[in-house]
Amino acid sequence: MTTTPHQPTASEGRAGAPARQPAWQPPGGPAALSDSARDHLWMHFTRMSAYRDSPVPVIARGEGPYVWDAAGKRYLDGLSGLFVVQVGHGRSELAEAASKQAAELAYFPLWSYAHPKAVELAERIAALTPGDLNRVFFTTGGGEAVETAWKLARQYFALRGKPGKYKVISRSVAYHGTTMGALAITGIPEAKAAFEPGVPGAFKVPNTNFYRAPEHGDDLVAFGRWAADAIEQTIEMEGPDSVAAVFLEPVQNAGGCFPPPPGYFQRVREICDRHDVLLVSDDVICAFGRLGHWFGAQRYGYQPDIITCAKGMTSGYSPIGATIVSDRVAEPFLTGTTSFAHGFTFGGHPVSAAVALANLDIMEREDLLAHVRASQDGFRATLEKLLDLPIIGEVRGDGYFYGLELVKDKATKLTFDAEECERLLRGFLSRALFEAGLYCRADDRGDPVVQLAPPLICDQSHFDEMEQILRSVLTEAWALI
Ligand SMILES: Cc1ncc(COP(=O)(O)O)c(C=O)c1O
Repeated sequence: MTTTPHQPTASEGRAGAPARQPAWQPPGGPAALSDSARDHLWMHFTRMSAYRDSPVPVIARGEGPYVWDAAGKRYLDGLSGLFVVQVGHGRSELAEAASKQAAELAYFPLWSYAHPKAVELAERIAALTPGDLNRVFFTTGGGEAVETAWKLARQYFALRGKPGKYKVISRSVAYHGTTMGALAITGIPEAKAAFEPGVPGAFKVPNTNFYRAPEHGDDLVAFGRWAADAIEQTIEMEGPDSVAAVFLEPVQNAGGCFPPPPGYFQRVREICDRHDVLLVSDDVICAFGRLGHWFGAQRYGYQPDIITCAKGMTSGYSPIGATIVSDRVAEPFLTGTTSFAHGFTFGGHPVSAAVALANLDIMEREDLLAHVRASQDGFRATLEKLLDLPIIGEVRGDGYFYGLELVKDKATKLTFDAEECERLLRGFLSRALFEAGLYCRADDRGDPVVQLAPPLICDQSHFDEMEQILRSVLTEAWALI
């Protein structure tokens, strides 16, 4: 990797943070860090052999929408880390909130006790949610929030005298986490294969991939109705007395950003009400401004019974997640000797709760949700310029959350086979985009896509920078096919 001295520009982050070379240098230099990573660090979802003969990319610092590797090279963070860093990197205000809280009360559990920041955060989050989602169960991340939601749904029905209602329905290719319960809800066979047998009782229905609609490919509303009705058919097939919950993301990430067709969520809500099934909105990615609203339900106009969230709640400055529950679902837990026998040592950690509050302060003060709503059309229009490339089949998403589907033949929507995906995505694209200065994700959990979800502070100059890098690297990729 080369060192690229960077000149600050006026466009780098609404926070106005100038870009500069990192002051810190690793002992032994960047190569020593990479070697040590190769020997000792177990990277997640990573084919470790890929780094046998090439350096492990080590990201050492960030500021605004940019990060720098340990050698000082700058990258535009086109994925907000992992759909996390809403307010951008290098916010000392959040570091100070963490430091202040650690000095005051570093740790206390939420097991029968409360601490002020968890109380304040729960009340504040309840005020941001739609409807009567007033009760917040904190976790340390998204998968735990999903796991919590399933367990909670099961006990909710047991308390209501319907212990047979334990099954869950989710969508094909959707990702909901890696713990065994969340993994059962996940609809990606390759993510589950090594760990079978999984938790029983999880069923899959079609997602809202309109680009590859098996039916109603010429009518988005009819397609949405068909996809929602598949949920009802599964509930009826399994037996309504056995189904507890449906887990859906507002915009499904895996597969490359599938927004809901108009009317989809309203139809799902009706179906859930008809069969006494809980609607869980998995907002682990979509909450906290990613779609220009606090939660996906507000963008698409539906009312969940439970929301799961994490990632953007602290913009990644400290880990936390939450399962937010409606008054109706919380009610049977609030009487007599009943308790929810579930929890995590670090759930609702005081430092994370303090950071989340400071993060919400920034989002409100800088009106980042309005900024996303005002800039999202520009983001879409900039990415849509890439449709002139033969390799881009579709640009889809909402807010600051987009997927570009890569195809071999635009006219027939022919996708790449496994060998081509291996050569194109893993062998070339991910690395070439990174080397060209754009951190994003080339993914083939469904059909091959490039995913983009930049920090919410990004503006047109960053969209243009993404488009230029994507254009040049995707043009090169096409030549390799
Ligand atoms: C929709 C969704 N749910 C759950 C998870 C799991 O979250 P975590 O990795 O924090 O456990 C993710 C992670 O990307 C996600 O996208």
